[in-house]
Amino acid sequence: MTGSILRTPDSKLRTGILYGVGIGPGDPELLTLKALRILKQTDIIAVPKSKEEAGSRALSIVEKVVDLKDKEIVELILPMTKDREILAKARKEVTILLSERLKQGKDVACITLGDPLWYSTFSYLIPFIIDAIPGVKVQIIPGVSSINAAAGVALLPLAEADEKLAVIPATYGQEDLKEIVKRFDTVVLMKVSSVIEKVLTVLEELALKDKAVFVSRAGWPEERVIKDLNSLKSQNLDYFSMVIVKNE
Ligand SMILES: C[S@@+](CC[C@H](N)C(=O)[O-])C[C@H]1O[C@@H](n2cnc3c(N)ncnc32)[C@H](O)[C@@H]1O
Repeated sequence: MTGSILRTPDSKLRTGILYGVGIGPGDPELLTLKALRILKQTDIIAVPKSKEEAGSRALSIVEKVVDLKDKEIVELILPMTKDREILAKARKEVTILLSERLKQGKDVACITLGDPLWYSTFSYLIPFIIDAIPGVKVQIIPGVSSINAAAGVALLPLAEADEKLAVIPATYGQEDLKEIVKRFDTVVLMKVSSVIEKVLTVLEELALKDKAVFVSRAGWPEERVIKDLNSLKSQNLDYFSMVIVKNE
């Protein structure tokens, strides 16, 4: 039960549960049954966003399958920056927003694209919430990650038999990137959009350009799967893009 202030038999206020709900890569059909149940039964949906005015891709997926009319939508503004002070302030504010509600016994479902524990904003919040409310229950509802969705549309096995798989942000330095691509059988390069030229250089140097596939917006109507990586040169690429390299 959510939405009311709940008390345990000894009349102590029950703390709400914080759910980290993975909502899949973009196709609402890839929401799990459990994610759907939790989102339907929870009155408060928390939506991490990088800026106030930005829309939420995650919420646009959820509203296709869940009636949000009577839900409280709590926006969690977490700027994309490496500035420690700005980040600390934003995380503190967000922790207050969540803990106020949890302390009133209300459950909160915080939605995340893909899975909540793969490069997600939600995972940063967990220690802050546990610190603010010792003993609070945080429950993860795993989601279909974009990694699985992209491998699926590219029809590329991520790992077979004794193969080694690496999942890394492509924003690594060029030499590190090269070393990792050399050492693993399959490498998933996340966040490639702003560094595609560097990725192409590394793949060129390792003669792996024709063993790599670029996937953007896997699971969305505008999904793209590109095998000719040269065609990506000087293009403005979508943030929701990755490259999967098979180092064969
Ligand atoms: C902050 S991470 C979020 C990952 C997410 N938690 C997951 O499990 O898929 C964002 C990066 O994930 C990848 N990504 C997310 N959704 C995608 C999609 N639908 N298609 C391709 N790549 C995607 C891109 O590399 C993007 O830069």
